[in-house]
Amino acid sequence: MFTRQFNSTFFKLNEVNKPYYVTTPIFYVNAAPHVGHLHSMVLADTIKRWNGFLSVTNTPAYLTTGTDEHGLKVQQASANAGVETKAFVDNASKTFKILADKAHISYDRFIRTTDDDHIEASRQLWKILQTNGYIYKGQHSGWYSVSDETFYPETQIEKKKLEDGSDQYISIETGKTVEWSSEENYFFALSKIQPQLLDHIEKNKRFIFPQKRYEQILREVKEGLSDLSISRPKSRCSWGIPVPGAEDVQVMYVWLDALTNYLTSAGFPNLKPNSPWPANVHVIGKDIIRFHAIYWPAFLLAAGLPLPDHIVAHSHWTMKGSKMSKSLGNVVDPVQTLNTFGVDSVKFFLMNDSFLSRDSDYSNDRIIHRHNTELVNKYGNLVVRVCGKAFNIPRSISSDSKIFRNESLIHQINDLPEKVATHMKNFNTAQALSDIWSLISSANTYVQESEPWTLKSNIEKQDAIIKDVSEAARVSSILLNSFIPEISSAMLDRLEVSKDKRNILFASYGTDTSYGKNANRKGDYPIKSIETD
Ligand code: ME8
Ligand code: MG
Repeated sequence: MFTRQFNSTFFKLNEVNKPYYVTTPIFYVNAAPHVGHLHSMVLADTIKRWNGFLSVTNTPAYLTTGTDEHGLKVQQASANAGVETKAFVDNASKTFKILADKAHISYDRFIRTTDDDHIEASRQLWKILQTNGYIYKGQHSGWYSVSDETFYPETQIEKKKLEDGSDQYISIETGKTVEWSSEENYFFALSKIQPQLLDHIEKNKRFIFPQKRYEQILREVKEGLSDLSISRPKSRCSWGIPVPGAEDVQVMYVWLDALTNYLTSAGFPNLKPNSPWPANVHVIGKDIIRFHAIYWPAFLLAAGLPLPDHIVAHSHWTMKGSKMSKSLGNVVDPVQTLNTFGVDSVKFFLMNDSFLSRDSDYSNDRIIHRHNTELVNKYGNLVVRVCGKAFNIPRSISSDSKIFRNESLIHQINDLPEKVATHMKNFNTAQALSDIWSLISSANTYVQESEPWTLKSNIEKQDAIIKDVSEAARVSSILLNSFIPEISSAMLDRLEVSKDKRNILFASYGTDTSYGKNANRKGDYPIKSIETD
């Protein structure tokens, strides 16, 4: 039966054993988490769940998130707090883990860059790069931004006059203060790997999402790349992973250390055929695209390791037009938001109201609005309607009226899984949700117009309507499981759909003929409106 229903290519039953591997950035522990961090976690979690959903019979998908704990920025934050650095990062890391748990992020590893296996993996990667001839020692002079943890070339710096008349130098790109530093450190031969990197990017049009970021990176790589400083003298930054062979004098550049987390979580240096590496998707914010789309693949190429399939750079949440960021202080506490509105309502808002290619403005009113209109009035209402006392779902779904079938609604149901899959292949959660909501709306309109409650004397017609509409509610709910797991499960519970019939094999019309027993009863609403005054 299933092969008849699904002979399309979008969903794969016989894939290799490697789990589908999704990552979030690892977050700096110098400040508390905010809604932007939550967004990356939720997007990665949704991508993981969706891909796990598409391969029901295979290895489950694998997700990592965690914290980035080394570097000058963190060292300075702990000094400012007057707390010993390790104690400081232990505590701050916990707040991110609490957030991931609170948001029901289905991570398989919460990685910390202070974990022993990560320190080992980073040192190992360094040694491989060195053996392969990509590391050399040199004198480095340049403008360093502690906030961005990166050097900027002279051309990307501008002078700003402070109120007291003194000069301050800042990065043109990020507006962050930079300081001149001249030091001896190790370099990575980025220029040497540039042709290979360019070739890879040119051949893999889906390497970077969205398209405009792909073009931006392609342009940058084409223009040529200068070698990268990948260590810092211990005298400037002591909080880091010691450089192999120079343990007493140099620590690794925090970005090399941080990026390696994606390998550590996959078991590197002991990668096995079934290990998660290479990652399928690195979810990041657009602010850290250069590190992920240039430096990271360059390190991997130089080390002879396989590259990730996709780098997905989402845009930013803004507050009244400016980026939500800890340095601007306009951040929203994500734990409080989750507590106030509920996990799935926040997730729905984040995935429905954001786009990869443009920023969106955050507001609590919009979360409430989405909850009340989309989740309660449209989706909840559909489920509650077919569960009405006047109808009989089990009898309806086992009936088969040739005259009263709503062919266009049935088509819409059957086309939906592949449509959602196509949008998710492009990491477009807003469009995926929008297509699911089109079905929900069509089904609601059909009930409204056909008025099945008036058909007591034409049970064949009433049952036919209830069958098509319940199927729309059931299939939508199954497809929504990756996006709003708790709410969609509550809806499937309300429809009395058995737990083992909630996977992709049942996401089409007529595939489940045994649900709805005792579902037609009064009240018992799976979701309630949020009251506002
Ligand atoms: O950059 N809107 O960590 P970080 C959406 N440790 N997402 C946002 C956001 C906003 N306003 N603000 C932040 C680092 N983010 C490094 C990463 S990875 C090997 C190392 C999200 O704490 C977004 O994903 O500054 C962004 O890239 C990330 O948080 C930056 O977090
Ligand atoms: Mg940042």
